[in-house]
Amino acid sequence: MTSEFDWNQVQAHLQALIPERSDELRRMEAQADEEHFPIIGPVCGHLCYQLARTLNATKIFELGSGFGYSTAWFARAVAENGGGLVYHVVWDEDLSRRARHHLTRLGLAQFVKFVVGEAVQTLRETDGPFDIIFNDIDKDGYPEALDAAAERLRRGGVLIADNVLWHGRIFDETDQSPETVGIRTFTHRVTSDSRWAATIAPIRDGMLFATRVA
Ligand SMILES: C[S@@+](CC[C@H](N)C(=O)[O-])C[C@H]1O[C@@H](n2cnc3c(N)ncnc32)[C@H](O)[C@@H]1O
Repeated sequence: MTSEFDWNQVQAHLQALIPERSDELRRMEAQADEEHFPIIGPVCGHLCYQLARTLNATKIFELGSGFGYSTAWFARAVAENGGGLVYHVVWDEDLSRRARHHLTRLGLAQFVKFVVGEAVQTLRETDGPFDIIFNDIDKDGYPEALDAAAERLRRGGVLIADNVLWHGRIFDETDQSPETVGIRTFTHRVTSDSRWAATIAPIRDGMLFATRVA
């Protein structure tokens, strides 16, 4: 017995515990693999679904959506919560079209509003409050997304941010790229602001959960 866990073994264990999911979700995972497109994967997806069910969320905003994978987990929760709306927001028209295709095949498109545009700007222009805001935009934009989310999340709502471990780059002090600095700044601000209670779940590339407590 070693005193330290094997990271990959832990991640594989978490993934093996996820309940069977639909063929469509599996197909989306295979597409992401093929295209090297960064999706949140089934463990983070299931945790997002679980949180949305726990909060009885009916209004969710995604900043920087892809071809609909994370959206599908949120939309399923919203449907099971009795209905509501998930904003799918991406600046790429083709991704938006593909997301609509997948959500339609999943029978969940009626719970999704598809918006093509810059995500932070769109959030600023959209009425809240939201139960959940999920941030997955380009990483240099994370601090700006935090400001916008603080204005649009309800008290007790949760801000989720993906990739906050950034494949370990946040630990490399010589890495001063805008993306790495963006994640460090975002993480520092959200964990040291008394309006938020935040924790990083070390799943996959690190997913941060921050509850708006004040
Ligand atoms: C990491 S992917 C999202 C993956 C998605 N969360 C999933 O798991 O299915 C981020 C996407 O958002 C787009 N994006 C990045 N920054 C954006 C911004 N500021 N506004 C709109 N779209 C953005 C990227 O081009 C990319 O297609």
